[in-house]
Amino acid sequence: PLAARPSGVAAMDWPALREAVAGCEACGLCRSRRNTVFGVGHEQAQWMIVGEAPGEQEDLRGEPFVGKAGQLLDNMLRAVGLTRAEAGPEQQVYIANVLKCRPPMNRNPEPQEVAQCEPFLKRQVELVAPKLILAMGRFAVQSILQTGEPIGRLRGRVHAYHGVPVVVTYHPAYLLRNPADKSRSWEDLCLAREVLR
Ligand code: URA
Repeated sequence: PLAARPSGVAAMDWPALREAVAGCEACGLCRSRRNTVFGVGHEQAQWMIVGEAPGEQEDLRGEPFVGKAGQLLDNMLRAVGLTRAEAGPEQQVYIANVLKCRPPMNRNPEPQEVAQCEPFLKRQVELVAPKLILAMGRFAVQSILQTGEPIGRLRGRVHAYHGVPVVVTYHPAYLLRNPADKSRSWEDLCLAREVLR
């Protein structure tokens, strides 16, 4: 049987949370992962970006969005004056995923994996206390907004997660396959930027 997720996540500081994620064995993904992927960025960032789960590159490097989708994300962020590079809390974002471990062959996250991992993301949001969350893709949106509604029906307006404004957009990996939707994603980024004005 798998060990439970460490208790007390809701009260952890950054070092404790980091350690809890690194040693988590709450679901079967701990058996196939090479590295956990905690999250990166400014710990007081105004923008928090939430993706789905580590892919192959992320699993190898222990860092979110370092593959092809990550390159597109970096370009999208740059277009609105944001960066993952070292900068102030207004420019440097914080990036995290719903799942901290890679699903084998990049399959979709299972509901029970999302449920086990959710307290980690929730605590990250509390610690960063961003002014805006950009939820990218179906799984981030489902987890954060607790809805099964498709992205197409949720984008274009501002939602909330524990009082933090949330803007929804397509996942960059989806945009790589469906470049025609990039203009919609651009609109979403502009909406997010408006929230912070
Ligand atoms: N896709 C995600 O959702 N997250 C990553 O970190 C990489 C690819």
